[in-house]
Amino acid sequence: MLEALQRLEYRGYDCAGFACLHPESNRILYAKVTEKLLDLQQQCEQNSIDGKVGIGHLRLATHGMVTHENTHPQFDCQKSIALVHNGIIENYHRLKGQLEEAGHTFLSSTDSEVIAHFFEASLRSHKTCKDALIDLVTQLEGAYAFAAVLQEYPEYMVLVRRCSPLYIGIGDDELMTSSGLRALSGFSNKIAILPDESFALIQNDFIELYDFSGKSLPLHTQEMTFNNCVHEKCDYEHYMLKEIYEQKNAIYATLEFLNLISPNIWEHVGIPVKKVQQLERIHLIGSGSSWHAACIAQFFFEHVAQLPTQVSLSSEFRFMPLLPTDNTIYGLLSQSGETADTLEALRLINNMDFPTIALTNEPSSTLVREANGFLLTQAGHEQAAASTKSFSTQLVVLYWFAHRLALEKDIIDESHLQTAEKDLLIAAEVLENSIENYKFVIEQTFAKKYSHYQNIIFLGRHISYPFAMEATLKLKKISYMFAECYPAGELKHGPLTLIDATRLVFLFSHPDPSIYRKFLTNAQEIKARGGHIVAFLFEDQHELKVLADHSFVIPTVKPLLTPIAMAGLMQFFIYQIAKELNCPIDKPRNIGKTVIVE
Ligand code: F6R
Repeated sequence: MLEALQRLEYRGYDCAGFACLHPESNRILYAKVTEKLLDLQQQCEQNSIDGKVGIGHLRLATHGMVTHENTHPQFDCQKSIALVHNGIIENYHRLKGQLEEAGHTFLSSTDSEVIAHFFEASLRSHKTCKDALIDLVTQLEGAYAFAAVLQEYPEYMVLVRRCSPLYIGIGDDELMTSSGLRALSGFSNKIAILPDESFALIQNDFIELYDFSGKSLPLHTQEMTFNNCVHEKCDYEHYMLKEIYEQKNAIYATLEFLNLISPNIWEHVGIPVKKVQQLERIHLIGSGSSWHAACIAQFFFEHVAQLPTQVSLSSEFRFMPLLPTDNTIYGLLSQSGETADTLEALRLINNMDFPTIALTNEPSSTLVREANGFLLTQAGHEQAAASTKSFSTQLVVLYWFAHRLALEKDIIDESHLQTAEKDLLIAAEVLENSIENYKFVIEQTFAKKYSHYQNIIFLGRHISYPFAMEATLKLKKISYMFAECYPAGELKHGPLTLIDATRLVFLFSHPDPSIYRKFLTNAQEIKARGGHIVAFLFEDQHELKVLADHSFVIPTVKPLLTPIAMAGLMQFFIYQIAKELNCPIDKPRNIGKTVIVE
């Protein structure tokens, strides 16, 4: 169990817990730590906490601080039910009030504890565990996946799922469950995915599966192959650095995959060719870096495929009026394929019956399962909290897909698609070579120098604006430095007041001469107020080089591919700043890699 939890550590957590039934007395034994998994392991060993039926959890605080009480497992009043939960019970406040009135005593501030107490009450008023569960799920609102062990029913482990994912693994002499498939790799490759709005009662080697009304459901298992089970850092100090360097190969692998599926692409993405030819709009949806990739891809689809493209943040999408047009496809972007906000957006669109394509790095993710079709990045497992190779490979897929759509719509011919593929390979080369060109100076000088700034402004224009947003997020996420991003043209509409000699400005130029000239004006405005400029610019942009305090010169690539060409160097520079500040780069505080709560 602890080994399986270890596999999920990369997702981020701030406390950990374990509970099991004592093999003879059936009493619940448990351990909780507000530190690392290793400490949990020590506690379990020291106190001989072990058994044959158990549950474990890594918690990233949402409801309530990082305390012993708030750590899972959560219990009922008698400590006869132990439960671990992912998701958020949206009506927990009301339920907690009702339960307190009925005499229940709560020890934590979590929403999850409500489930344990409600379950306790339901078990009292129903004859069977199954009936108690039907009662329980009719009361709970929100997204949740939980597993529970019960003193009263020691033969069972209870699993319940609504929206949040839950998997069952069938091993040789054991059954197991997890919210993340990665935890099961190496223990079982015979996997059942718990259907949405279902619960299961697991007994030794027998599984009963029901929908929320109590109707029995068949259990479908599938063989799964797990790649990259062993995630070594090799000689790299951090996963993030390793993943920055893996980008060139990841881009090659992604292009190979795209070539492979190209002849059957429309079957693959689940859209009939006729619909593709009639296509009028694209709507892209994502969060964080995936949203930035979508913002960059807007330029690809509009310039290459002449398709008006809208981009939405997953967390905002459901609150906007859904005004779908007939010939629109929806692209849902997510590295993990499990981001709750993105899945929620997907479900809304699916309910309206519009075509959806998942773009993710995880073939077995919920996003792939629930969308009409999918496109996969071939980045390999990404362990570090900050996306690097998944971001650049998303851009590769989107650039290629814009060309493939244009080809189908007779806007370009086959040779243009081939040129696009070659240009992507060139951009991948530039991505890697640029790191090598500046590695030494960044490590020796720049990282130290620039880690002292308190407030940093990032500027971009055209396609370099969403790229600047990505750089800003990356810096904030791994170095905890405060940074803001603006479209460079907005500087004089307000943020220019922020510029003085204490201010550092990162400026991401553009190869187009007319856009570049505008950057020159911005650079003049910043210098005139004493600001310090670090510019990412292209060959022949000498005036900007003179104005900037330091510059990184990137070989010229196709203008739309500049975000890919600059990605490696930007990520490497930011990585080195965070390293200089001694930040826990791979697992920054307060956030998880896979954001499975809304
Ligand atoms: C930033 C980062 C996050 C994710 C965001 C969405 O470096 O990693 O902002 O991009 O949480 O995650 P996915 O792409 O898995 O949906």
